[in-house]
Amino acid sequence: MTPHAKPLGASYPANLLDLRAREYPWEARGEAVHFDHASIGVIPQRARDAVAAYNDKRAEMHRMRADDFFPQLDRSRALVAQLIGARPEEIALTTNTSWGVNLAAYALPLGPGDIVLGSDGEFPANVYPWMAAAKQRGFTFELVPMQGHAVDEAEILRRVQTDRRVKGVALSWVSFWTGIRIDAMTLGAACRASGIWFALDTIQGLGACALDVRKLPVDIVSNGAQKWLCAPWGSAFAYVRAELIAQMEPPAAGWLSQASAGDFARFLAYDPAWRDDAQRFEVGSLPIQDFVGMNASLELFLELGPSAIEDYLGGLTGELWNWASSRRDIRCLTPPERARRAGIVAIVTADVPGDSARLRSAGIVHSVREGAIRLAPHFHNTPDDARRVIETLGE
Ligand SMILES: Cc1ncc(COP(=O)(O)O)c(C=O)c1O
Repeated sequence: MTPHAKPLGASYPANLLDLRAREYPWEARGEAVHFDHASIGVIPQRARDAVAAYNDKRAEMHRMRADDFFPQLDRSRALVAQLIGARPEEIALTTNTSWGVNLAAYALPLGPGDIVLGSDGEFPANVYPWMAAAKQRGFTFELVPMQGHAVDEAEILRRVQTDRRVKGVALSWVSFWTGIRIDAMTLGAACRASGIWFALDTIQGLGACALDVRKLPVDIVSNGAQKWLCAPWGSAFAYVRAELIAQMEPPAAGWLSQASAGDFARFLAYDPAWRDDAQRFEVGSLPIQDFVGMNASLELFLELGPSAIEDYLGGLTGELWNWASSRRDIRCLTPPERARRAGIVAIVTADVPGDSARLRSAGIVHSVREGAIRLAPHFHNTPDDARRVIETLGE
């Protein structure tokens, strides 16, 4: 990539340059700039290699060893737990975010007369499961109208504090569209104080931002690893707070959800007791090759440090925000405050289709959602990459 004349304020940490060359060689060579983690994250070289090696072995089963099966999944739970400050027993591996949302909608203790609050403007993965579960289980799922293009957090807070019928709140941590990060701490604390379940879809936040469930009052987190955790499709997880697990009847059962799971000598005992950890929400065989990839990606995140990534990305997205807000003809849907942003900067230019085409021609992978250009860089993107976006769209 050609060096650009006007460097941005944000500097690229020296330790990341080598890492970028190693993990994203195509990007270091200037083949493309990936600003599309809000759609699909890019898999680092180490995860590519791990998945390829695993699949090679899988094709020649006689080369596989006991460590290649359940211990890989144990490692996934341990790494996810380390990433979010949970215990491995609180992690259920899933294959997408939607499964964790369904788990919350179908298994949280809710029933007729109860209200669960969501928000207009949510990604549908966090709406349809609640609608369907409400119909089946008899509770009411209510979409709170937005305030402008943001979740009306003040109204949700008011309802949580005053409406005794409200028994659950289900939101995305970060909007797929505007990139706005809700104040999960304030909402979660209010829910906890009122005995209300708080379920969070974190897929658009985790990886771009650090998450610590020891500090954040949240009951269920669901997260696919395919976006901001730069892992293969099919790798995902749900966190269920330890105290809640025993209160939740799994919505689906299988040979691995039972207390007898793993005891290959007792297949035919048909013991109906559930596992007492979050694995009661896992049903059957999982795509181990995808979790092997996720493990390699999570090791990279843990090596770099989730907070260090958040800091760097906060600077980089801040530069994009500063540029966008300096242009009179661009409306920025993402707010300037760092605590209210994650990795997305969503902008509405005077010519969204034309500008999107220009970005594409310049090799900048991005997406358009709800009429806005969604720029979604990550730790491997340099200020030079951001400058390439700015120069393509004009100073
Ligand atoms: C907020 C949110 N939730 C969920 C998903 C995807 O769900 P799943 O992992 O089930 O495909 C997306 C993807 O765009 C999203 O933005």
